[in-house]
Amino acid sequence: MPTPMLTTQRIDAGDVVLRKARADDRNAIIAHVTDAEVRAHLGGPQERAAVERDLDRSGVTAVTDAPGAYVIADKATDDFLGTISLTRRGAHHPGHLTPEGEELELAYTLCRSDWGRGFAYRAATALLRRAAADMPDEAVIVVTQSDNERSLRLARRLGFTPAMRFDEFGAEQTLAVVNLREFAAT
Ligand SMILES: CC(C)(COP(=O)(O)OP(=O)(O)OC[C@H]1O[C@@H](n2cnc3c(N)ncnc32)[C@H](O)[C@@H]1OP(=O)(O)O)[C@@H](O)C(=O)NCCC(=O)NCCS
Repeated sequence: MPTPMLTTQRIDAGDVVLRKARADDRNAIIAHVTDAEVRAHLGGPQERAAVERDLDRSGVTAVTDAPGAYVIADKATDDFLGTISLTRRGAHHPGHLTPEGEELELAYTLCRSDWGRGFAYRAATALLRRAAADMPDEAVIVVTQSDNERSLRLARRLGFTPAMRFDEFGAEQTLAVVNLREFAAT
């Protein structure tokens, strides 16, 4: 049976919107993935020339080609603020709730200048509510470096509970879990 995924193209989240990437997001995306602070717990900043090559080859829209992958944009200006995704965690990665893997995995990044304003919280809440309408009663995980305090704080605010720790990419990771039931409309 095919694994259910989030296929909607756009989600409103108050003063931010989740949408697919567009060609004119290019400069903001390059600045985002080459930012040392944003990438501090994500393997470090990507190399600008390599990012530009990838975007030239695959196109900017490829950034959010995967079902469940979005840009977070400012509702008023439509400017790029970051990224958010709810995709499946492949069994080849360590860190799973079951040996089969393929859990729904939430990931989020915001431009450094946009931290501390609740944008990621509102984007994630809207995304999880939308997913709960399609896939009720399914577990969602967040996997984040154990020393990524902001990310863990956000996960906790969203209702995720730490379930296990393991090593990946040379760092200790915390896997936290919540059930989409918590985001279902009542
Ligand atoms: C992880 C990350 C997205 C969290 O961003 P964030 O802005 O701290 O998270 P939120 O959107 O939940 O905002 C929460 C902050 O905004 C504040 N805030 C202001 N207005 C708010 C509102 N209306 N609602 C909620 N929070 C609000 C909160 O008090 C909180 O501040 P604090 O953390 O200083 O106490 C960001 O730090 C980031 O991009 N990090 C780099 C990428 C990364 O490591 N991602 C994790 C991979 S899974």
